[in-house]
Amino acid sequence: MAAAARAAYGVQHVAKGIGRLANVVLTKGQGSYVWTNEGRKMLDFTAGIGVVNLGHCHPKVTEAAQSQLGNLVHAQANIAMHEPMLSLIDHLKPVMPHPSLDTFFFWNSGAEAVEAAIKLARMATRRQNVIVMQGSYHGRTIGTMALTKSKTVYGAGFAPFMPGVFASPFPYCTQCAVAGASGGKLGFDNCCMDPVHELQVLLKQQSTPADTAAVLIEPVLGEGGYVVPPAGFLAAVRKVCDDNGILLILDEVQSGFGRTGRYFAAEYWGVRPDIMVMAKGIANGLPLSGIVSRKELMDKQNPGSMGGTYGGNAVACAAGVACAQVMKEEKVLDNVAARSKQLLETLHGLKASPKTGHLIKDIRGLGLMIGLEFNSPSFPTLTPQSNVPAGIASKVQAKCLQNDLLTLTTSIYETIRFIPPLTVSEEEMRVGCEILTQAVEDVARET
Ligand SMILES: Cc1ncc(COP(=O)(O)O)c(C=O)c1O
Repeated sequence: MAAAARAAYGVQHVAKGIGRLANVVLTKGQGSYVWTNEGRKMLDFTAGIGVVNLGHCHPKVTEAAQSQLGNLVHAQANIAMHEPMLSLIDHLKPVMPHPSLDTFFFWNSGAEAVEAAIKLARMATRRQNVIVMQGSYHGRTIGTMALTKSKTVYGAGFAPFMPGVFASPFPYCTQCAVAGASGGKLGFDNCCMDPVHELQVLLKQQSTPADTAAVLIEPVLGEGGYVVPPAGFLAAVRKVCDDNGILLILDEVQSGFGRTGRYFAAEYWGVRPDIMVMAKGIANGLPLSGIVSRKELMDKQNPGSMGGTYGGNAVACAAGVACAQVMKEEKVLDNVAARSKQLLETLHGLKASPKTGHLIKDIRGLGLMIGLEFNSPSFPTLTPQSNVPAGIASKVQAKCLQNDLLTLTTSIYETIRFIPPLTVSEEEMRVGCEILTQAVEDVARET
């Protein structure tokens, strides 16, 4: 079958509910690039939605997985332990954002790990309710749909959801009505911290602390718009949790493993989670996720209450070990800092330019988790297909795609997110920035 016909076959027979950015068939990935079955080479600033942090098919990760494939593929975790999992724990313990995080449970996907965290919080506290943030994304399973508040598309038509979930505002200062009305007095650098007040109100009006097991929060909102919280917010949430005997769960599925320039984003604010959720970059594309907590909490669970046939797969864990080694050996975090600066310079250049500056509302992010929000007259119109903004962000994204740069949008507002591999080279970043600049200039001319 011809290459294009193969894509048409996929469109016909792969579930429509997935929705996708490009109707192409990928056959190869190497470093920051992917290739299609038509030989088209594309620069991947999505990294498979923040998964291949070390680039596609990093040779050391591939080698570790290949070698493990020849030794032991499946050592079921409820049957016995296996060495790659123990070795992964050896490598992860020293990079945890707090030394109390010393006991691990591994699963396959981010959503499963979020559910594992909820199970632990409920068991450990004997309370039921969970508070999440407005704009949060935690997955698309029956359990995590209840916790996801970034876009209605993730839940529409699938109710009823898990009960006992309450949403509290996240400090999205760019879209905050209080900041907007303050005439520039309030904003990210001088946040009113109203969301902390709202969290306390929620605990008085909707979910009493005695019923509340956990606050679940992404340290940097991902699918909600790549929103970094202002200084002091996470510490204030930690205090509210401590004052009320509530556990703090940090979902570092997207922000973890170097994405923000630190191993985990929590390090920026020195906030200790009771439970942390990990996935995506943990094994650079092999399906692996996990939670970590302190032993005293983990030990409250009954043997047999946790597990799953494939959880903590030996090949995925071996890849995870290689990832941890590469992060250190190749000084990946140094590259994140340098490439982040390069990307931010381009974005600030676009904002300063008379050609494009009027389009840009906000530039934000940490490390290589960067968002570019465009001005939009009111609430953006969302496409009926996938509920993504149908305005400037989608137009810029489409132009980037035409020129072989893959990018993603995020949030209900007009925002493009940049999540290249953390190993992206200076030259690759230069090429990506050039394509992006051209795309924004073209859209500015046409609108
Ligand atoms: C913060 C966060 N949590 C959870 C998930 C769900 O992970 P998965 O898609 O592996 O189920 C995601 C996925 O994008 C995420 O970004």
